[in-house]
Amino acid sequence: MEYDELLGRLYADHHNYLVSLYESQLEEAGWDGVILASGYPRAIFGDDQFHPFRVSPGYRQWVPCGDHDNSYLVISPGQRPRLVCHQPEDYWHVSPTPPSGLWTNHFELSCVPTRVAAAKALPGRLSRWAFLGEPTADVRARGFGAINPQGLVSALNFHRTVKTPYEVECMRRANRIAAAGHLAALDAFRAGEAELDAHLAYMAAVRQTEARLPYPNIVAFNEHGATLHYDLFDSEPPPESLSFLIDAGADYLGYAADITRTHAARGGLFSDLMEQLDEAQRSLISSIEVGMSYVDLHVAMHLSIARLLKRFMIVDMTPETMLECGLTSAFFPHGLGHHIGLQVHDVGGKISDPGGTVIDQPPSFPFLRNLRPVSVGHVFTIEPGIYFIGQLLEPLRSKAEGSAVDWDLVCELMPYGGIRIEDDIYVSESGPENLTRDAFASLQ
Ligand code: GLY
Ligand code: MN
Ligand code: MN
Repeated sequence: MEYDELLGRLYADHHNYLVSLYESQLEEAGWDGVILASGYPRAIFGDDQFHPFRVSPGYRQWVPCGDHDNSYLVISPGQRPRLVCHQPEDYWHVSPTPPSGLWTNHFELSCVPTRVAAAKALPGRLSRWAFLGEPTADVRARGFGAINPQGLVSALNFHRTVKTPYEVECMRRANRIAAAGHLAALDAFRAGEAELDAHLAYMAAVRQTEARLPYPNIVAFNEHGATLHYDLFDSEPPPESLSFLIDAGADYLGYAADITRTHAARGGLFSDLMEQLDEAQRSLISSIEVGMSYVDLHVAMHLSIARLLKRFMIVDMTPETMLECGLTSAFFPHGLGHHIGLQVHDVGGKISDPGGTVIDQPPSFPFLRNLRPVSVGHVFTIEPGIYFIGQLLEPLRSKAEGSAVDWDLVCELMPYGGIRIEDDIYVSESGPENLTRDAFASLQ
């Protein structure tokens, strides 16, 4: 069972935390209350089918069950939170399982059979109420004081970066599920199977449907690893297996794991580079301290990557010069990582306060998603990479810095695609806890 006694206890504190957070934010912003909507399924254009439905993250933070559309959470200071669950009677589709478990004791719960009844159960006068979520035309006509008011959204996003023990436990469990999937996929790769087989082995091990996963699996053999979000699945094995990059996660009560591992078919240059990047990643993680800037961690990783490029004679230049002229970005073009939680790329990484002040994006690192100083309670990924991407490396040939690149070595490494190693890190009072490495260790 997903929601056990431990989670029941942790959820009680999590719920109390949310009650006091919301009450203080509503009072500060002058709202009588807020309604969080679970959302609604989107029709596929010109079809009578729907895109997979995912409840909105703000609602999900309160509600561990994730499959009720057109449902509402009604929060008003001093009142017990009210959950209006749309529980249709439907012989075409399976109705969601009615909410159950200890968490339901924290709500005034009502289940209603239609969307209209759910909307009717909302308070009548809403001009001093805020609405959070994706509004339907009906909601727009209800006269809410504001729909997704920026002040409230920014404050909640900012606070969402600090995870409660309940949320961290969900992510620990998501990591354990995903780690088992990674081991199964690796077995398929080692057995000489195709990308599609490795993907299916992963899915079988995690026992979650693709619609439930926090993001689509990246299962890339050989040069496919150089496409950062490679999303095809070859159904035939390649003539020769060189490398395997898998970026795949799992869900636990709405919380995500996001894990990448790279494997080499045999020893040699690529395998050595991979091991040393793994070591550099672990060393960076062990250096994490509260108050440090995540941007500085990103820069430190660029420097480590520059050292590796020099050590492996891929680039003959001092690491500092490599960083200055931006050469490492051709090998490591994405950010070091991002906050993770209810969304794989969780909110709040680019604002410095609850007011929503936007932190300037460092111009050299346009794709870095976390610009915050490290705080207790943050959960973020650390995911360095070294890739051999023709589109980024070829233009260097005609530049001055290109003369420092050993192009023969680059050509030798291109068929291997690239390396990414990604762990989910919880910053606890006593230091960084590596949810991902702990998950793999628990399976040994
Ligand atoms: N899997 C998406 C990411 O690593 O950010
Ligand atoms: Mn990630
Ligand atoms: Mn990932």
